[in-house]
Parts: sequence; C-alpha cells; structure tokens
Amino acid sequence: MPLSRLSSLLLVLPALLLLGCPSEGEPEPATDLSYYADIKPMLDTHCTRCHQPGGQGVGDFTDDVEAMALADRMRARVDAGEMPPPVADPSCRDYEGSEHLSMPDHKRAMLAEWVDGGKPMGELAEYTPVGEVIAQLDRVDMTIGLEYAYTPTFTDASNPGNEYRCFVVEHGQTEDFFLTGMNPLIDSEPLVHHIVLFKMPREEIWDDYDPAVGKDCIDGTGGADVDGMIAGWAPGALPVALPEGMGLRVNEDDVLVMQMHYFQAGPEVAGLSDQSGYEFTIADSVDTPIRMLPAGIFDFNIPAGAESHTATDSISLPEDIGLTVYGTFPHMHVLGTQYRVWADQDGVETCISEGDYDFDNQITYMFKEPLDFPAGSDLNISCTWNNSTSNPDLLVDPPVDTGYGERTDEEMCFAFTLAAIRFE
Ligand code: HEC
Repeated sequence: MPLSRLSSLLLVLPALLLLGCPSEGEPEPATDLSYYADIKPMLDTHCTRCHQPGGQGVGDFTDDVEAMALADRMRARVDAGEMPPPVADPSCRDYEGSEHLSMPDHKRAMLAEWVDGGKPMGELAEYTPVGEVIAQLDRVDMTIGLEYAYTPTFTDASNPGNEYRCFVVEHGQTEDFFLTGMNPLIDSEPLVHHIVLFKMPREEIWDDYDPAVGKDCIDGTGGADVDGMIAGWAPGALPVALPEGMGLRVNEDDVLVMQMHYFQAGPEVAGLSDQSGYEFTIADSVDTPIRMLPAGIFDFNIPAGAESHTATDSISLPEDIGLTVYGTFPHMHVLGTQYRVWADQDGVETCISEGDYDFDNQITYMFKEPLDFPAGSDLNISCTWNNSTSNPDLLVDPPVDTGYGERTDEEMCFAFTLAAIRFE
C-alpha cells in the first residue's frame, strides 16, 4: 500500500470508531507483519547480544513487554543509522559474522512498516528462535588478562561517561612466537565498549605505568599504534582465526597492550569493575607470516564544522611484491564516519572493504575469501569524517580544524590490513 494511503487510513480509522460506526472491535492491523513472526527474530539476530541483562545496550529486548514498549525508540534509532552500530558493508566484501553484524535495508524497512502498521503482536507460535552465534577458538594455547580488576571512575569532565585505559600484559613466552587466532574474554560486558590490541617493545612501557589502574590513554596509545597494531574488537564480533599455517609475529621482548574503552551507559554500571583478557592460539613457527600493514593517510586537515570531509590517497605495490589480503581493521577516531579501501588493476576496480564507521564499534573484519593482488596493483583508501556539532561523539565543541595525531581528539585514517607478502 502506498505510504500516503496508509497514513490517511490510520487517521480515518480511529475517527470512524469515535463516531460510533458499527465496528468489529479492534481495527485490522495495516500490516501483515507481526512481532512474533518478524520482529522478535530480527531482534535476536541484530540487537539482543547487547540489549539483554548484562549487555552494554539499554533495556532487555528479550523481554517481549519491554521490547514492545521500546518499539518506537528502536525504529527511531534504526532509521537514524545508529542501531545496530555501523559496520562494514558485506556487499563490498563479505566477512565472518556479517549476517548478524550488518542489518540489511529490507529489515530496516520491515521494522518501520510494522511500527507504522500498529505494531501487531501476532502469536507466540509464529516465533522461530534464532540460534546464538558461537564465538570460540578451536583451541586455546595462551590466555592473558589485566593483572588487577579495574573500576573506571569516569571523572574526565572533558569526555563524560568515557574512559580509555591501556593495560600492559605479559605474554609469558620465552621465545618469539606467532599469534594464529585471538578472542577477547570480556569480564564486564556492560562496561566494555571496544578493545584495541597492540604489541610494543617492553622498553617502551610508560615510566608512570601503574598496573593497578593502567594508563589513561585518551592521549593515544604511546606510539605503538601504527607498527604494533594487532586487532580491534567490539561486541558481537567473532574471534579472529588466521588460515592454517599463518600467524602474526610477536617478539619475546614485546608486551601486549589492551586499550580498553569503558563506557558509562547508565547508573547500573556505577562501581562495576573489569578484568578482561584475551585468549589465543599460537605457534612457534608458521609457513607464512602475516603482517598487519598500516595502510593509511597522514596528511589531511578536516575543517572545523565540516559535516562530511573525505581524504583519499593511493599507493602502488612495488613491481616485485604481490599481496594476499585476509582481512582489515579500519581505525579512525571519534570524527570517523565512513571508510573505503579498493584496488585498481588495469582499469578494473575491486572493492576490498568499505562501510560505515563508529569509534565505539571497532572490528577486525576477516574476509570469507582472501583476495590476491598482483605486483604493481594500485591500492586506494579514503576516510570520511564529521567534524560538526551534528556528530554526537564530538569531543571539541565548538569544533576546530583537525589533522593526524595520536590523541583521541586528533584523527587517524587507517585500514590496518592483514596480508601475506609475496615476492614475484
Ligand atoms: C554492539 C552493541 C549494540 C547492538 C548490537 C545494538 N545496540 Fe542499541 N544500544 C547500544 C548501546 C551501548 C546503547 C546506549 C547508548 C546509546 O544510546 O547510543 C544503545 C541504545 C539503544 C536504544 C536507546 C534506548 C532509548 O530509549 O533511546 C535503542 C532504542 C536501541 N539501542 C535499539 C537497538 C536496536 C533496535 C538494535 C538492533 C537492530 C540495537 N539497538 C543493537 C548497543 C547496541
């Protein structure tokens, strides 16, 4: 039914009832969709991993009464593109877990149609539960974690409700080794918004580092960001498992660092502590070392007030080096809204990864199929930022011109790329 007719019908029906027209009780719902048949399975797939008791979202969407009461808010946040949090677009390059991380447009339209159609409940018998996504490594060889449980204080007045803490963790290995799979162990789900995992040489541990409280890293990650990056994680992401025979090198002299983003969603998290960690599969040696290549742009200026500013750059692979790409970890700071990575080979464009970006939802996307690029290919990257007051995450208000930098109120543009280098 065209939207215009639908809305006039909705206006007319109650009027008729008021006039005392002969009626058969409730008006017929203006949609065939129902809560049990259509909406509840959608919530299972795209929302309840955060929106249930102990999750980081607000409200319990597994409770039908609560979910019904929040339906208008759900529709508003979904229409605004804020929920579920923005992620990479699987139609560019499909990745592990995309089925539940990315909400397709037809499901957004379905939610809107159901709300507009009067939110019919339907019957419980129409509900088919959606299975939970299993997020486990095949095997666990090494487990690390914060040395002490940490209770965020959320006292930084310039960044209310947020805390960025870096914790140094020892890997305990006595020789160089390779990470072949990794999975975060979240202790306090309502508190932990994202984790960035990196390595750095032990000699670079900060002088003022205190393991009981970590280091405040709103000012960046201490220089290790670029070369030491390993992975990013946000709720709902699957473990990173590298293909057989491949691994990321960690030196004996390195330490691992977990940058934790703690977020105060509401009063219920007050006083909660966290002692999260990571578990890994590891190997002494691998056939193919995988690198986390820091493809990025360093030279840009995002004008104060710009709602959408894009920087683009490209590099050509040397004539004797080809790449096999397994995944990507886009990384910007709070102004970042979109990114795109693509290749040009003889005039043919290949999409490597693109999508919407949210600093609170940093994810390592592992492609379902690896991509090969011959020597000499051109690789391109672009980042888009919103440096205006329409960005709810803006840290500096009124906005100022912003360029590359480590601090969270400066910006970055990276697609850390998990790749094997081939000499051709
Ligand atoms: C990755 C975790 C995550 C997922 C997945 C997620 N949310 Fe949220 N949601 C949050 C967090 C955190 C908040 C609180 C902060 C905020 O409001 O942005 C929130 C807030 C909300 C609110 C705000 C309540 C209010 O009254 O304003 C609504 C509504 C909502 N989400 C709907 C949804 C819907 C619908 C889905 C699925 C289609 C979804 N969310 C998926 C994390 C998530």
